[in-house]
Amino acid sequence: MAIERTLSIIKPDATERNITGKINALFEGAGLRIVAQRRLRLSREQAETFYEVHKERSFFGELVDYMISAPVVAQVLQGENAVAHHREIMGATNPAQAAEGTVRKEFALNVQENSVHGSDSVENAAKEISFFFSDAEIVG
Ligand code: CMP
Repeated sequence: MAIERTLSIIKPDATERNITGKINALFEGAGLRIVAQRRLRLSREQAETFYEVHKERSFFGELVDYMISAPVVAQVLQGENAVAHHREIMGATNPAQAAEGTVRKEFALNVQENSVHGSDSVENAAKEISFFFSDAEIVG
């Protein structure tokens, strides 16, 4: 299997509840390596740009408001098959449908406040990583 990198965001509901370490422990326990990480407060413009693909969805405005409501932790995770593996560890978008042992089953509050974001393809991972990090900030 190929070594990949994916973009992960620990979202405002999780930073507010001070559970970023618990979430990182699940990622690391599953074999993913955190090779870049930064806590930041997204601007409205950044959140709108990052989630541009969802701009026609009914929940877009609420999603942007939520993503700027508290700090987030952006991170690059590296490992074998990292994009799909990370999505497996996160669980389904809606925590009501997430499998036992996943981040969202354990920590997410609802479909919006779902604690984590992960890239959905290798191609999008590259774009999303460069949204937050320069090459020099990623240390594998
Ligand atoms: P994420 O994986 O970051 O991708 C888009 C985000 O939009 C998603 O996680 C949720 O935070 C949010 N989202 C997805 N579906 C809904 C929905 N039906 N209602 C509200 N928010 C949603």
